[in-house]
Amino acid sequence: MEKSNNLEKFGKVWNASGVTNFFGDGYPFHIFLKPFGLDFRGSTFVAKTATLRPRAGNMPLRKNFMPKEWNPKCIWMNWLRGYALNSVGLSGPGAKALFEMGRWQKRKEPFVISFMSVEDAPEKRTEELHQFVALFREHLPHFQAQVALQINFSCPNVGLRPEEIAEEVTKELDITSVLKIPLIPKINLEIPVEIAKKISDHPACAGICITNTIPFGHMPDRIDWQKLFKTKSKTPGQEESPLYKRDPKFGGGGLSGKPLFPLLCEWIKNARSAGIEKPLNVGGGILSPKDVQKIAPLLRKGDSIFIGSVAFLRPWNTRGIIRQANRLL
Ligand SMILES: Cc1cc2nc3c(=O)[nH]c(=O)nc-3n(C[C@H](O)[C@H](O)[C@H](O)COP(=O)(O)O)c2cc1C
Repeated sequence: MEKSNNLEKFGKVWNASGVTNFFGDGYPFHIFLKPFGLDFRGSTFVAKTATLRPRAGNMPLRKNFMPKEWNPKCIWMNWLRGYALNSVGLSGPGAKALFEMGRWQKRKEPFVISFMSVEDAPEKRTEELHQFVALFREHLPHFQAQVALQINFSCPNVGLRPEEIAEEVTKELDITSVLKIPLIPKINLEIPVEIAKKISDHPACAGICITNTIPFGHMPDRIDWQKLFKTKSKTPGQEESPLYKRDPKFGGGGLSGKPLFPLLCEWIKNARSAGIEKPLNVGGGILSPKDVQKIAPLLRKGDSIFIGSVAFLRPWNTRGIIRQANRLL
């Protein structure tokens, strides 16, 4: 297996982590919508984020990792206006169980595994990552396809401040670099481009994935929560989230879909001005082939897009987006 930091063989369109489940099977509704365009062929598989230990999260799973609920309560959507909140909370069986199923090892095309350290204290997160890396190293020789690792840094548990994030990511890149596979930190739009630049300068960083969901109520000067959710305040607390109202254990959830798209485009432009040269894997509110046309001029050779909530907000556009991106990028 070739070991390099080059992302080009991972293609121009990726899945958003979480959207096609741990092994690319998707979710039950995908089967019915496939004939209508919910078809991920031509895109690179990115696995749902794994945690080291099994984690209940908020989406109860069956033995085959499909959600027990047909319409999971921890996902709220405004289908007409094209946005959603989720607090899936990284439900999953833990990395050991996932590796031992042997399904990732059998894949033939380049793909991406996603991992997140979720402990509340930095030393515990470091230990968690060391254990994950040891596990991955043990299984890596059995992988048939080129694999990359997306390292997810947007967990509400961890709650890092932007100033702290560069240090944390750098430390995690140092630890994971022993895997000698492409490493792609995944951050969200709250991280200023100057900090993303510091992260991207790490020699083991193959590229930056932007953006994860935005926690409910965050970035109030850029996201109009009053308009989106009829909240009383411009800076709403999580109690005003429809997910919290469904069940306080869900917290406020994270925003995905349409409102992220203009912010994403602006972030990419700023990233160029800040001198980020590493490839970007960009997504957030890409819901139509037209969105691909809009974002394509901001991207360079080696960059790619990813698609997420479109799978349930505009499923019929999935195939068209993938085709358009493979044509334009
Ligand atoms: C139901 C759901 C589950 C998600 N699960 C994950 C996950 O496991 N890991 C992760 O990094 N991002 C996860 N995300 C975030 C997406 O990967 C993506 O970054 C975000 O939704 C923005 O893109 P979009 O607007 O195209 O959906 C999830 C999003 C949704 C809607």
